[in-house]
This record gives sequence, structure tokens and C-alpha cells, in this order.
Amino acid sequence: MGAEIKGAIEYSKGLEGVIAALSSISYIDGSQGKLVYRGIPIEMLAKYSNYEETAYLLLYGELPTKEALENFTQQMKTFRILPKRVEDCIRELPPNPHPMDILKVAVAHTALYDPDRLRCCREGVMSKVIRIIAQIPTMIAYYHRARTGQDIVPPDPDLGHAANFLYMLHGKKPDKEEARIFDVALVLHAEHGLNASTFAAMVTASTLSDINSAIVSAIGTLKGPLHGGANERVLKMLDEIGTPDKAEEYVLNALSEKRRIMGFGHRVYKTYDPRARILKEYAEYLSNKYNDRRYIEIGERIEKIMIRELGKKGIFPNVDFYSGIVYQFLGIPRDLFTPVFAMARSVGWAAHVCEYVQNNRIFRPRAYYTGPDYVEYVPIDKRR
Ligand code: SDX
Repeated sequence: MGAEIKGAIEYSKGLEGVIAALSSISYIDGSQGKLVYRGIPIEMLAKYSNYEETAYLLLYGELPTKEALENFTQQMKTFRILPKRVEDCIRELPPNPHPMDILKVAVAHTALYDPDRLRCCREGVMSKVIRIIAQIPTMIAYYHRARTGQDIVPPDPDLGHAANFLYMLHGKKPDKEEARIFDVALVLHAEHGLNASTFAAMVTASTLSDINSAIVSAIGTLKGPLHGGANERVLKMLDEIGTPDKAEEYVLNALSEKRRIMGFGHRVYKTYDPRARILKEYAEYLSNKYNDRRYIEIGERIEKIMIRELGKKGIFPNVDFYSGIVYQFLGIPRDLFTPVFAMARSVGWAAHVCEYVQNNRIFRPRAYYTGPDYVEYVPIDKRR
């Protein structure tokens, strides 16, 4: 797609290929299927790091020393607690809205009680940022427990970020191995350049609005099915297909009707998304561990068909295709898949906002006017 010509003007639909900022936070090589955070390959971070350490790396630009990581982790644990009024508000919210809508409300609400809300210095902004990153998992878990009529489970200071979320959600300490898998999934989702939700956060911040407003903009943007909302729809599609032998007919029908297969394609990756490779391994592992290969077998069949049909157009599995199978085995309800994406990506949003405003310029692109040059104003009683 890329640049389109309208008369004498060349414009890039969806800003495809447009460089809108300088950034040292991450780099994506779309043709090689490579992703680095601050220069470190995602595969190394998935193998050796955890969400807290990766969040520090993304926010501060380098891996933390042991002491710095301990302090950062402790700060995240302290900040997990929600203001009582926010907790009460979450309890009162209706059970049926999409949890991404609840998350927008909760993040906006908690900003009103942030002790650092008026601090604009770097230290004050970092405190607000870390508080939001630490509180989003609590908001999601509290909402789920309240909407299902279960007692809210307060954060456990002995558990890391990933394990604590599963604990607050399920009300019991998670299996260590599964907590580790979830931790890796959060690392994989933490950052991805100027994707739509990160760009939305940057546009908001470029007006010198506050960080909470920027995060709320990002949450609303991530909700869309073409972006973070795809993971939830992949599982729905796997259920609709039902068995691996029905995958071919389903996919070919969808493609013939120009419908999108969720979890495939990417604006930047024109080969396999490196994050999908890692998530596929975990989806395979958990399918075998639970002796339930339904989803992975349908998924692998779809993958084969889609690569056969559209691989030459650069359409491959993206991060959303296998993440839902992993989350399903971790007992995460489907409508929480995108909130979990938001929980992970909150640090990417924050890192880009903090980086961009250091050398800020308000985002203000233009549109190529295609309307009439002049139209007479006709009084209403003369209009037909
Ligand atoms: C994420 O930007 C990021 O980094 C996002 C993300 C992140 O970490 O932040 O990676 C997370 O959002 C992953 C993407 C999740 N969304 C989906 O899985 C939804 C399905 N995917 C598509 O809608 C699409 O691939 C996008 C939105 C992801 C990318 O859209 P583009 O780059 O605008 O591509 P396009 O719509 O111009 O499509 C190009 C061609 C079209 O065919 P033609 O009209 O040229 O014949 O590829 C086809 C499309 O029809 N195509 C697909 C397809 N994706 C693209 N055909 C079938 N199924 C698909 N999934």
C-alpha cells in the first residue's frame, strides 16, 4: 500500500513508512523478523530477563544493577495498591462492559489520587509512570474478581509482577513454571516502537498533556481488533473452526470474502514475528502439559495455510496469534487478553512518551484537501 498519489500529492495512508520520531528504545527489522529492546535481542530477554528488569531497561535505557533492580522492584510492589476510592469504584462498575473500557475508567480515576499528579519534574513523572505500570494489573484482577462475585485478592508483596497478577486473578499462588511463562509473555509484549497505541500516547503527550491522559489514549487505541484486540478474536476463530480438518475451508472462505484472519499480518514484519515464534513454543508446551492439543493443532494448520496462501505477500503469524492459547491455559478469561496486552505495553507507552517529550514537538500532520474550492451559502428556506 504505502504512498498513494492523489492528483499532484503523494501521501502515506496510515503513515506507512513515515519516520515520526527518533528513538533508541527498540528496533524492529521487519524483513529479518528481528526485535531488540535497547539493543538487546528479544530472544535473550525472553530467556534471561523478567518484566521488572525489562521495564527498567526500557524506561532508563540500560540493564539495572542488582541494587537498582531491587529498588525498582520494591517500588513496583509498593505502587501496586490502589487508592481505596478507586478500589470501591471498580467494585461498583457494571459487569458487562469490555474490560478495556473499565481499564480506561480506572486509569483516569486513579490519576485523581496520585500524590505526584502535580509534579512535572523527571522524578515526579517517573513515579507516576511506575505507579500506573504497577497498578494496571491490580485494576484488571480486581475488576474480574468483582464482576464474578469473588472476594478481591490484595497483592502479595512476596510475588513478582507476573506471578502476583495470576495470584490476584485466581486467588491462589500460581504454578512457578506458568508464572514464568506469563512473565515472558509480558516481556514480549512490553514494547514495539511506534505502533498505533504508542503513537496515540505520544500524540497526547506532545501537547504537554499529562502521562495518565496519554496512557488512557493508548488503552483506547489498543482495544481495536486490528491492534491489541486481535488476540481475543483468534480464540473465537479457533472455536468457530472446531477441528483441524475444517481449517482449510474456513481460511479459504474468509480470504475469498476478503475477511482478515486475526493474528496474521503486520505493518512492519513481512516475515514471522519473532514474538510469535516464542509464544508458539509455549502454546505447544502447555497444550502437551494439559494434554489438550485442540487449539494448537488448529492454529498450526491455519499457519500452514496462511503462509502457503499469503506468505509471498509477507503475511505471517504476529504476536496475537499464539498468545491467546497461552493465556487460555493460564486460566486468563478471553476478554482479559487485551487488558493483559495493555498491562505489558504500559511500559512501552511510558518509555516513548518520556523519550519524546525530552525533545518535544507537537504532532500536527496535514490532510490533502479533496473538497470543493467554493460553495455558495444558501439560506435554509431556499434549500431543497
Ligand atoms: C499488533 O504495529 C505494531 O507493532 C502492532 C503490534 C504491537 O506489538 O504493537 O505488533 C500488535 O497490533 C499485531 C497485529 C494484530 N492485528 C491482527 O492480527 C489483525 C489482522 N491483521 C491485519 O488487519 C493487518 O495485517 C494489520 C492491521 C496488522 C496490518 O495492516 P496493514 O499493514 O495496513 O496491511 P493492509 O491492511 O494494507 O493489508 C495488506 C494486504 C491486503 O491485501 P490487498 O488489499 O493488498 O489485496 O494484506 C492483506 C490485506 O487484505 N492482509 C490480510 C491480513 N492482513 C493483511 N489478509 C488476510 N488476513 C490478514 N490478517
